[in-house]
Amino acid sequence: ALVTTKEMFAKAINSDYAIGAFNVNNMEIIQGIVEAAQIENAPLILQVSAGARKYAKPIYLLKLVEAAIEDTGVDVALHLDHGEDFDICKKCVDDGFTSVMVDGSKHPFEENIALTKQVVDYAHARGVVVEAELGKLAGVEDNIKVDARSATFTDPDEAAEFVERTGVDSLAIAIGTSHGAYKFKGEPYLDFERLKKIHALIPDTPLVLHGASSVLREFVDRCNEFGGEIPGAQGVPEDMIHEAVNYGICKVNVDTDLRLAMTAEIRRVLTEHPEEFDPRKYLGPGRDAITRMVQHKIRDMLNASGT
Ligand code: G3H
Ligand code: 13P
Ligand code: NA
Ligand code: ZN
Repeated sequence: ALVTTKEMFAKAINSDYAIGAFNVNNMEIIQGIVEAAQIENAPLILQVSAGARKYAKPIYLLKLVEAAIEDTGVDVALHLDHGEDFDICKKCVDDGFTSVMVDGSKHPFEENIALTKQVVDYAHARGVVVEAELGKLAGVEDNIKVDARSATFTDPDEAAEFVERTGVDSLAIAIGTSHGAYKFKGEPYLDFERLKKIHALIPDTPLVLHGASSVLREFVDRCNEFGGEIPGAQGVPEDMIHEAVNYGICKVNVDTDLRLAMTAEIRRVLTEHPEEFDPRKYLGPGRDAITRMVQHKIRDMLNASGT
């Protein structure tokens, strides 16, 4: 069924596992992820970005997710990823999403609170839960200077005040992760002390880790082996995520690793079979690669199999 994250998070918050939230853009990606969750018997969040809505059209993603649920019987929470204003959040609530993210992290504290509160009021009145974000995800350049951390990372006291004043259901925090395939120039670093402080101050608030892809070596190497050019890509090591789930992280966002797994496999098939031009012959293996990768994430990184 289409479910809310309320029960998922309530179970996960004081446990040693987290729920994977995977970005979806087309049928093969949706099918690949849902099959993995079905095999692993794990809770699942599928999330849709503004870019995904633009690419596929909102109704296609909605109907595809509904079809996946009906076909497999898997419970899915359908979530808007990085809603930047009230309007897109309202649209997704009205469309039947069970969860929306309002991302006011680029705004000053008080404006972020006001925007988040507006979305919370609208969504809660309709049984929909809300994720907000406080702090700015690091860019590669922020990795160098320790000074830059306190300017961009989530302030624990502000996080507590933010949750109290907005009534938001979950909070995305900045502790060193970033979006995309180039997360760190040098050694990967996450601010675990900060995470522990935030979790201690708001122990009942599920925390969300964006930019949590690991940029798995296997897929980067395969992309590069078959004509790709993505040198220097680096993600968050999976053991770091595995540790973070013990300190209140309940939702782990993954998009880049899906892109890499699918693209690596499509590159391989097209290179090894240059005579092939039936899209099913490369999209099918791309979908299978996503299933295997997501199974691995659920089982080995998120510790969520059978939960
Ligand atoms: O947070 C970013 C996600 O990876 C979605 O990316 O906006 O290109 O769809 P997108
Ligand atoms: P990645 O780019 O690390 O996969 O992060 C995805 C994300 O945070 C989506 O909101
Ligand atoms: Na999100
Ligand atoms: Zn994100």
